[in-house]
Amino acid sequence: MNISFENRVVIVTGAGAGLGRAYALELARRGARVVVNDFGGSVDGSAASSGAAEATAAEIRAFGGQAIADSADVTDEGSVQSMVEKAVDKWGRIDALINNAGILRDAAFHKMKLADFRKVIEVHLMGSVNCTHAVWPIMRASNYGRIVMTTSSVGQYGNFGQANYAAAKMAVIGLMNTLVIEGAKFGIRVNAIGPGAATRMTEALIPKPIVALMTPESVAPAAVFLASEAAPNRVILNATAGGFSRTYIRETVGVHLSGADCSAEGLSASFEALSDPTGEQLYLDGGQQVNKFVTRSAAVAGVNFSSGS
Ligand SMILES: NC(=O)c1ccc[n+]([C@@H]2O[C@H](COP(=O)([O-])OP(=O)(O)OC[C@H]3O[C@@H](n4cnc5c(N)ncnc54)[C@H](O)[C@@H]3O)[C@@H](O)[C@H]2O)c1
Repeated sequence: MNISFENRVVIVTGAGAGLGRAYALELARRGARVVVNDFGGSVDGSAASSGAAEATAAEIRAFGGQAIADSADVTDEGSVQSMVEKAVDKWGRIDALINNAGILRDAAFHKMKLADFRKVIEVHLMGSVNCTHAVWPIMRASNYGRIVMTTSSVGQYGNFGQANYAAAKMAVIGLMNTLVIEGAKFGIRVNAIGPGAATRMTEALIPKPIVALMTPESVAPAAVFLASEAAPNRVILNATAGGFSRTYIRETVGVHLSGADCSAEGLSASFEALSDPTGEQLYLDGGQQVNKFVTRSAAVAGVNFSSGS
């Protein structure tokens, strides 16, 4: 299958450098009209310049692609709205949004300033919220849309010194799960990419011989796929150095405790049993978990309850 973006308009945030730049270039090569967003700051989110977005847009135009540069700070709702209006004025539509802009403010949790915690949440989570909220009505109206969140192995599994970043990168998964439900009848699919690449954000941490393997270009196929018509839905797709995998959030079948066993002691005694991964389930909304518990509880109590009603 040939994945084309002819006549599609895609916004990529934080596309002045690193991964976002690689995504924007690859999308444009496939015919997308690309809004290259970047506020041009440093890795910790300080300072700003319009040069970063313009540089990637110029690269795209140099090979005959179509791009506009935008230097909105994704944390600024008004600037994000203007960016979206600018794209719609020029091209009349928004087909996909890749929420990629990000910063780091690392410190061990006991030393972390809460202002730095908030700033990281503000850029990764609220930046994704602002941009998605601005394109959402357009996608609903056109019955088509692709949203890509950017998570991280750190969000999924944690990392020393990155409590703020980990929280933000898991938060976008919660956002994705609900937007999948709300967007379903409007043809909107929402997925998340978990990238790994040597960029200015990570280069200092990656052993030199591996830097050459961990290119942003090796991650770009995942972003392009998730932004395309062929995109799946509700997928956490990890991509690093040519390796691709999926992360699932699954739940054990668990146990039901009643009477005296429904106590901290009973739970402690059953902890191994409730942790047994046999028959683990994937749920498509929070209610499915509640139904599992209540259905079992009702059966034990002899209460007439149907999970479907
Ligand atoms: N590089 C990795 O290994 C890795 C791993 C997991 C997740 N990520 C995520 O991938 C995304 C891209 O990271 P990268 O490695 O390319 O880093 P990068 O620093 O090279 O690029 C991030 C870009 O986002 C822009 N940006 C930051 N704050 C912004 C804001 N408020 N508004 C608009 N633009 C803003 C920056 O100016 C920068 O150009 C980030 O969300 C990052 O957390 C990266």
